Amino acid sequence: MFKKTQKSDSSTGSNAERSVAGLNLSASLHRSQASDEDFAFIREIVYKLSRISLGPQKRTMVLSRVARRMRALSLSTVKEYCELIKKPVGASELSSLIDVVSTNHTYFFRESKHFDYMMKTMLGSANRRRSKPFKVWSAACSSGEEPYSLGMMLMEQCRIELGFDWSMEATDISSIVLDKAKSAIYPDSVLARVPEALTQRYCKLDASGTSFAIKPEIVKRVRFHQLNLFEIPSHFPADFDLIVCRNVMIYFDRPTREQLIRSLTYRLKPGGTLFVGHSESLSGLDYSLKMVKPAIYIKG
Ligand SMILES: C[S@@+](CC[C@H](N)C(=O)[O-])C[C@H]1O[C@@H](n2cnc3c(N)ncnc32)[C@H](O)[C@@H]1O
Repeated sequence: MFKKTQKSDSSTGSNAERSVAGLNLSASLHRSQASDEDFAFIREIVYKLSRISLGPQKRTMVLSRVARRMRALSLSTVKEYCELIKKPVGASELSSLIDVVSTNHTYFFRESKHFDYMMKTMLGSANRRRSKPFKVWSAACSSGEEPYSLGMMLMEQCRIELGFDWSMEATDISSIVLDKAKSAIYPDSVLARVPEALTQRYCKLDASGTSFAIKPEIVKRVRFHQLNLFEIPSHFPADFDLIVCRNVMIYFDRPTREQLIRSLTYRLKPGGTLFVGHSESLSGLDYSLKMVKPAIYIKG
């Protein structure tokens, strides 16, 4: 039926324009409709690849995001999309699927209590006997706002503590957000969230004043990698002073969260600290860390 509409739309003149508009509408409808079987298949494959748990309540959101991929691939039904990703030739599409279904929302200095804790409690004067460099991992870093916010604070510590040094790994499963993070360029509209003194020191506005870049002294210290939290290679460091893994556990089911916490605990040095999102309490999970404040845990 869809093909037939497409054929009759290939006539000329203003009717054709109306038909073309009709065609687009029809295609959009097809793209947002899926059988339960196709939706279940997409849920399963997303879970298998990323452990992101897509409940039935996410169906509309997921299908509208999948429709973006279908448009890019000129596919008109969810069934065709599922058939593609089942084939070996569709393997390269899988990372694009994860890119579109994952939620990448983030912003500078999100959950500011964590930054205060790092500066006052972890790096404050009482705690000066620490290893060098101070090693941080921003796990699930999205487009870079989180690691660069941490980086600005760590540069501040360099200003106040002679000989202080730091390094950071920043990882995410999505290549699209990592490309943005590596570019280190953001619209000036987000600057309102960055304290004025830090903007002055660590951000460089472009000539038009519409975007800014994080200064190289920070960018060069942050190593970005594409990394699935459930496929961490054995050579990845396991001596972090601080792991920041915020606002990603909410997308995982309970067994997956437990597995993740065990794996993050292993990557902390003894006495190291884990930050999770404030809406991601570990209560009810089996874990071996000590909670010191809401969303802040220490490895004993
Ligand atoms: C909502 S953002 C959180 C960003 C930042 N941590 C914050 O709190 O603002 C969640 C990020 O988790 C990433 N993510 C989801 N599943 C992942 C996985 N299995 N491994 C690594 N990253 C994952 C997504 O790509 C997304 O960028």
